Amino acid sequence: MTDCLSFGAIRNEADLEALARNEALAFNTPLDSCLSWLRDTREQVRVVRAGGEVLGGLVRYDMGQFFGGRSIRNIGIAGVAISPTARGRGVAKSMMRAALAEMHDQGVAVSTLYPTTFTLYGRVGYAVAGHRYQYRLPLPKLGRIESAREILPLDPSRDGDAVARFYRNVASNRPGWLNRNSHIWDRVYRHPAGRDVHAYGVAGGGGDIEGYVVYTLGEVARYPYTLNVRDVQVANREAARRVLALFSDCRTLARHATWYGGLDDSLLLEVPEVGTEISVAETWMLRIVDVRAALTSRGYPSDTTARIELDLTDDVVPANAGGFLLEVGGGEARASRTGDAAGADALRLDIRALASLYSGHLSARRLAELGQVKGPTASLNQADRVFAGPPPSMPDYF
Ligand SMILES: CC(C)(COP(=O)(O)OP(=O)(O)OC[C@H]1O[C@@H](n2cnc3c(N)ncnc32)[C@H](O)[C@@H]1OP(=O)(O)O)[C@@H](O)C(=O)NCCC(=O)NCCS
Repeated sequence: MTDCLSFGAIRNEADLEALARNEALAFNTPLDSCLSWLRDTREQVRVVRAGGEVLGGLVRYDMGQFFGGRSIRNIGIAGVAISPTARGRGVAKSMMRAALAEMHDQGVAVSTLYPTTFTLYGRVGYAVAGHRYQYRLPLPKLGRIESAREILPLDPSRDGDAVARFYRNVASNRPGWLNRNSHIWDRVYRHPAGRDVHAYGVAGGGGDIEGYVVYTLGEVARYPYTLNVRDVQVANREAARRVLALFSDCRTLARHATWYGGLDDSLLLEVPEVGTEISVAETWMLRIVDVRAALTSRGYPSDTTARIELDLTDDVVPANAGGFLLEVGGGEARASRTGDAAGADALRLDIRALASLYSGHLSARRLAELGQVKGPTASLNQADRVFAGPPPSMPDYF
């Protein structure tokens, strides 16, 4: 069946409507919201067709992702959906291969996604590369939290740029966090079911903000409720305390506050009592789309120098296979092609293992224990120094 498939952009309204019906069915979402989502992201929608019939599609989020303090080009994949009548025949796999070929041609460094099955995406070279951690703080237990800082309402249309600058500063030091595009920011400020979204900023000196929080309340007209935080970032301990004070001031009717962050979460570090539940809400996968772009556009520890030969296999994007020499120094890297025969010091690995190593999800030593990287200990140690960092995370969902 996959021989007769073609892949490409939306051609007309009929294409868009056909895909919207598949999205609505796949994700149990109202057709109207699927239509408006696809219209908003139209340029980045791709469909798979058999003859003229749209069998399914996906949406690309062209954005950045921070690794080593730099933003690299990342296309997030969302809304992968195939018509129930066409499932189980390799259509999704074929569509993902075509999507990767297009991204590679466009020089994209990596692609990320939140899978509903590891199998499909593993087949085309994605690997688990990090988690999305959820914090759930019981508020009655929090007691009163005092803070001398002021907290003020934020208006996204007026303060959005300042908030985005603030977010970027925080996120650039968190491996795996998105360098958000406008669609991801929309997800922060706009609730999919049209619920009221509340935003507050912690006032710093000189009119700047030192932190912000954006949240909705639980089910309409029901209390007690949960403060469902859509985004919260703070620059320092005082700002974290101010946000926690806001939560604690809601504690007569709010039972919990939930938010997403990394394992070294700034709010969590200021919670004064035990009892915060921490869970892995979702797991994300990463695909190295273009090895050279991925290795050279990210940042590295500034005090580390290394020279590592990588001998790679990639069964989906052939241009990534073969030998690369990675030379790291001064916080950046060069990557060049090596000859055909890999040297004795080379690390031999598949593109999937490189994805887990690259994000910092698994160390080279751990991958070697798992049999996914082969090479001498000295080269494994070098790789671990180069890709070292806090555990990767991604608070945003897309
Ligand atoms: C998931 C979905 C996109 C798969 O589409 P499909 O065309 O049937 O998938 P394919 O036939 O190309 O399968 C590719 C591989 O994934 C595996 N796979 C497909 N659906 C799977 C499932 N539900 N669970 C586990 N593995 C699955 C297949 O076994 C196949 O593996 P193989 O290479 O070992 O044979 C489709 O079932 C769908 O639209 N589901 C609802 C929406 C959804 O979950 N989308 C994914 C969002 S991340």
